[in-house]
Amino acid sequence: MARSRQPLIAGNWKMNGLRADALALARGVAEGVKQAGWTDREVLVCPPATLLMAVAEAVKGSGVLVGGQDCHSNASGAHTGDISAEMLRDAGASHVIVGHSERRTDCGETDATVRAKAEAAWRAGLLPIVCIGETLAEREAGRTLQVLETQIKGSVPAGATAAKLVVAYEPVWAIGTGKTPTVAEVAAVHAHIRKILGGLMPDANVVRLLYGGSVKGSNAGELLAAGDVDGALVGGASLKADEFLAIAKAA
Ligand code: 13P
Repeated sequence: MARSRQPLIAGNWKMNGLRADALALARGVAEGVKQAGWTDREVLVCPPATLLMAVAEAVKGSGVLVGGQDCHSNASGAHTGDISAEMLRDAGASHVIVGHSERRTDCGETDATVRAKAEAAWRAGLLPIVCIGETLAEREAGRTLQVLETQIKGSVPAGATAAKLVVAYEPVWAIGTGKTPTVAEVAAVHAHIRKILGGLMPDANVVRLLYGGSVKGSNAGELLAAGDVDGALVGGASLKADEFLAIAKAA
């Protein structure tokens, strides 16, 4: 049975938040989600690893899901400073973001690295959110679809199914800039992504595709209504409970 495309609204807190503020944010999101009582969408927060356990505890019983922002591909071992998917799971995570463009740029992650991390997520029982997206130079050179196809084919492991994978399309030039593609562009790119995934997995028609890049309360409605968009990966706007809840409401 194919899984339905239940919207997923995910907050990527990135390297933001000390304990007091982060827990207040987590509680604010949890309270809002609990009050809304949504059964038709999922809300996920991805705090820094240092806060994962405390955030998981703070949102307990609210329905809010918790995820990591990255994981190592190995389960354990001599990898100073790294965190495994098993450790994230042990800390209360159900999801993990892999291949975010900031990690591809800051840490030199390749498609092969990202693919290994997605496989690690499966090994640990986590749902990987595989990020892809073109740079401004690639977009201006008219290479967007080609770049995304290469990233998808290199980053999505063999054996993917809709129940085991979420893909987030985040144009690099739209992250933290206040700029977004038009709704028509998002719909066209997502349709292309779904088509490419169709060659790699049996049920790409129901795999969830998130849009990310300058999503906020005021533009979430139209972006989330675009064809083939099944949710959002939110950075800056996920750091304010009200703003993040407004996006979840728009889903
Ligand atoms: P912004 O929402 O701040 O543009 O960030 C998007 C993002 O990178 C989420 O992973």
